[in-house]
Amino acid sequence: MHDLKDYIEKNRDRFLEELFELIKIESISSREDHKDDMYRAAEWIRESLLRKGADKAEVCETEGHPVVYGEKLVDKKLPTVIIYGHYDVQPVEPLELWKSKPFEPEIRDGKIYARGADDDKGQMFMHFAAFEYMVSTGQLPCNVKFMIEGEEEIGSPSLGSFLKENREKLAGDVILVSDTAMLGAETPSITTGLRGLSFCEVHVTGPNRDLHSGLYGGAVANPINILCDMISSLIDKDGKITVKGFYDDVEELPKEEREMMARAPFSEEDYKESIGVKALHGEKGYSALERTGIRPSLDVNGIWGGYTQKGAKTVLPSEAHAKISMRLVPNQNSEKITRLFRDHFLSIAPDYVKVDVEFLHGGEGYVSPVNTPEYQAASKAYEKTYGMKPVPYRSGGSIPIISMFEHILGIKSILMGFGLESDAIHSPNENYPLSQFFKGMETIPHFYKFFAEMK
Ligand code: BES
Ligand code: MN
Ligand code: MN
Repeated sequence: MHDLKDYIEKNRDRFLEELFELIKIESISSREDHKDDMYRAAEWIRESLLRKGADKAEVCETEGHPVVYGEKLVDKKLPTVIIYGHYDVQPVEPLELWKSKPFEPEIRDGKIYARGADDDKGQMFMHFAAFEYMVSTGQLPCNVKFMIEGEEEIGSPSLGSFLKENREKLAGDVILVSDTAMLGAETPSITTGLRGLSFCEVHVTGPNRDLHSGLYGGAVANPINILCDMISSLIDKDGKITVKGFYDDVEELPKEEREMMARAPFSEEDYKESIGVKALHGEKGYSALERTGIRPSLDVNGIWGGYTQKGAKTVLPSEAHAKISMRLVPNQNSEKITRLFRDHFLSIAPDYVKVDVEFLHGGEGYVSPVNTPEYQAASKAYEKTYGMKPVPYRSGGSIPIISMFEHILGIKSILMGFGLESDAIHSPNENYPLSQFFKGMETIPHFYKFFAEMK
């Protein structure tokens, strides 16, 4: 693979042009009005895979947004790598905070700015480019399958059935995913853990209509006040979640593993500075990396009710609502936690309001072992391009489908992410450094080579 760097250098501008084409398609999976864009993005991927050397690529219908499947099978006797990625993106609001338009990619200060620049169009495209290189130079050392979905950002509701219906087609040795982050641009790392998720919406209803806050205020419970009380009781002064039974299945990590985690090159000072807070806050007795990596958490993602437009309106609202997400650690079960949360939340509701808990989506966490051929191959691949052995670390994010790959297909995943914390995924001004984009592209073919040798 002596020609790898050269190949990337020579095709740099074209790779960027291609990625920009994909980014321009507004494939926001959570929005009904973008349904057509989901098909346009899927079709773009199908054609791109064929151009890059896949023998076959198809847009597969599901109950929701389509999955794109592609393959190049060179030899039955060789191992098979399955690439997973997602072409859907998160909504872009608040628009006014973007310096350039979210779907008009722009390069500034060596970074691509756009929705999906990192998560996951940019990271996914590195695999397309790496595949093109290996095929066109005759250096593909194994079989490759692509499974690119359009519902990751909404909890992959259709991918489970897709896996069950296509078990044979999806036979393979490992699932390779670039949809996570490294600890820093100079700190290559491999994600060895993801958190699970339970995402709920809660509704509190008081009087049968919005009331005059002068005529009724003081005599009738205000649903927003009540909701705030209920929410604030969910976490105690030590940062522990008060939902009954919540910690029952949480595994305490052995001392040695925690000591190893503490050695990860991570600076709480830089972390605080990068997000503009004076102090960190969370569960007592754990470091920041532990609080996101090995401990569960509970957060309000949005809260609304009453009058929120410009100016004043003296109203005592009839309803209050909030979106609440719980991040879970491996061994906690998302369905069980949702049940515990619902029971608890209903049990703390005072009788002067009506409370409903609605489950939106969820999924299980994942831990990836480090003593596997895929981990070793990934480790050597990073070392080759970054000149340093990557550190294993557990991320706080979730990709629920990863545990389903293991349970339905019986295949483990390796999370070779190249994102950086500063990429602002899901936020305004999402970006992806060109250096990570091209380094990722360079690392991937090495993974294939080492993996094929070890298998
Ligand atoms: N790519 C992210 C997950 C991620 C990012 C993991 C960085 C580790 C490091 C993924 O697209 C994502 O945003 N997942 C959602 C879950 C989904 C069910 C909405 C998340 O974590 O909020
Ligand atoms: Mn993603
Ligand atoms: Mn995401």
